[in-house]
Amino acid sequence: MNRITSFEQYQQEYKRSVETPEAFWAEQAEQFTWHKKWDNVLEWNFDEPSIKWFIGGQLNITENCLDRHLEKRGNQTALIWEPNNPEDEVRKFTYKELHSEVCRFANVLKKNGAKKGDRICIYMPMIPELTIAVLACARIGAIHSVVFGGFSFKSLSDRIHDADCNVVITSDGAYRGAKEIPLKNVIDEALLTCPSVKKVIVYKHINTEVKMESGRDVWWQDEIKNSSADCPAEIMDAEDMLFILYTSGSTGKPKGVVHTIAGYMTFVDYTFRNVFQYNDGDIFWCTADVGWITGHSYLVYGPLLAGGTTLMFEGIPTYPDAGRFWQVIDKHQVAIFYTAPTAIRSLEALGLDFVKPYKLDSLKVLGTVGEPINEFAWNWYNENIGKKKCPIVDTWWQTETGGIMISPLAGITKTKPGFATLPLPGVQPILLDEQGKELQGNNVEGRLCFKFPWPGIIRTTYQNHKRCKETYFETFKGYYFTGDACKRDEEGYYHISGRVDDVIKVSGHLLGTSEIENAIDQHPDIVESAVVGFPHEIKGWGIYAFVICEHERKDADALKKEIIETVTKNMGAIAKPDKIQVVQGLPKTRSGKIMRRILRKIAEGDLSNLGDTSTLLDPSIVEEIKKGAH
Ligand code: WT7
Repeated sequence: MNRITSFEQYQQEYKRSVETPEAFWAEQAEQFTWHKKWDNVLEWNFDEPSIKWFIGGQLNITENCLDRHLEKRGNQTALIWEPNNPEDEVRKFTYKELHSEVCRFANVLKKNGAKKGDRICIYMPMIPELTIAVLACARIGAIHSVVFGGFSFKSLSDRIHDADCNVVITSDGAYRGAKEIPLKNVIDEALLTCPSVKKVIVYKHINTEVKMESGRDVWWQDEIKNSSADCPAEIMDAEDMLFILYTSGSTGKPKGVVHTIAGYMTFVDYTFRNVFQYNDGDIFWCTADVGWITGHSYLVYGPLLAGGTTLMFEGIPTYPDAGRFWQVIDKHQVAIFYTAPTAIRSLEALGLDFVKPYKLDSLKVLGTVGEPINEFAWNWYNENIGKKKCPIVDTWWQTETGGIMISPLAGITKTKPGFATLPLPGVQPILLDEQGKELQGNNVEGRLCFKFPWPGIIRTTYQNHKRCKETYFETFKGYYFTGDACKRDEEGYYHISGRVDDVIKVSGHLLGTSEIENAIDQHPDIVESAVVGFPHEIKGWGIYAFVICEHERKDADALKKEIIETVTKNMGAIAKPDKIQVVQGLPKTRSGKIMRRILRKIAEGDLSNLGDTSTLLDPSIVEEIKKGAH
């Protein structure tokens, strides 16, 4: 398999990728199956923005994930599934089997009226049928929009609405540790306000009773029975949409990040092979849910494009106990393990007794993603899981970048605790100061931007191109702006400091503060709220909500409980505030803008240094908030 094998080669490839990016990426794309080769590698401008890769090319990504491998690896395992309950049976699919399941389900989709260009919402547990559903959409040229199973009916219906989906794929329910989650009920509630949805295909997984609406709802198992395994792939244009994935932003409404087929495919394949240094036969385990970009790129598409073996785990790290990850690694002889810092911190906190029973000697490479990893957690991971013999790749990227941008290449380039280190070939970072001036040389800190497109870059935000432009391309003209602050140290290595906008990373999940505020404000007694993040030992960031009540409520604890329920209902359990403080007012400027800087300081417990409060409409508010802070 073609990949970078030395530091010198990394340097050469990097140089080449900057000098002749089009030739560089065209070479990476050569290996794929194309129905028609591209006419032009790249056309772009960051002003509109308009970015197109492999223009004129025609292909289907599933032929590259599946058909292309059948001859050589038809009988190799493509997918291993580890169930929530360790006593239940493992399921495995060879490339041949996965190919045939995808084709059969693609025919089910067609039979149920789905066609090229339709948007299909997938709301499923982490079971093989989720991967099959994703690939079946791509097979027929439908655009998948996977929604994380932890989102509530309200978040779900917003996403279905925004993408105007006509088909939903779900299951009766999901197992999550000892809990059962009734997914179909959530769908039913969401669909009360989504008239665009004509069909719901339900996979029976936990055998719980569900309501099936006649004419609309059908069972996966019934539909698949007589479905043929012959389904020619729809021929797609390189720049046709592959999927929409919603992510939080500074405003209340999540945005649908759009990725297109050929560029995403090329970038994810290249980054997968090089960052993880994947070798034939390695078992690769990415613990992320397919509901997030990490699951799309490195659980489904990346490993399959590379002809690898991907492991999918239905459960949670602490069920039946906090040794589950390590047990699964031994059980399946996992070679490459990719997880989130928040998982590492929470398992570290539970102690080494859960690690000791396991050998972990199959591991070769470890990875992290989603948020900064502090040095302590990095060392714990290195010593106790990697036994100091596995390079750790701290991979920096975003939903919008499609794949890994800044990261060590395992065993090839140097690692440094807390550092994402160096850009991948084809990736051109630049640090700007607040005025947009380039910070040159080393030992500088600024806003992380990119000055040249890579194939996996976001193309638009669904049905709202203006928002894409404003969010990523207008802050600094001519650059893609990430929203992150970043340091380049004396050696030229990159360290991500964190977000500079109104989003917070809670357990690695990106949440918009205004989105959480909207959810809180649904409570009938709340007139206004302001949400900020505060440093949290396990989650990275916790959620601190300041709320104003319409009338005084003596039962403060009951109120807090109700607020948490309201948020769970309107957004999902991942957005539950960790701390809620009832206040009489919020620190606002004379023009009515909430001064979040002050609230952030208070939430962090840094009461001494609140900066200038004289411009506030009512500075006395701050004193009152300080007194009630916790
Ligand atoms: C934001 C993107 C990356 C896919 C999953 C999250 C933060 C991501 C790292 C890292 C420090 C990181 C950034 C980024 N982030 N990876 N290795 N070190 N911070 O995708 O939900 O779109 O979030 O996650 O702040 O902007 P996402």
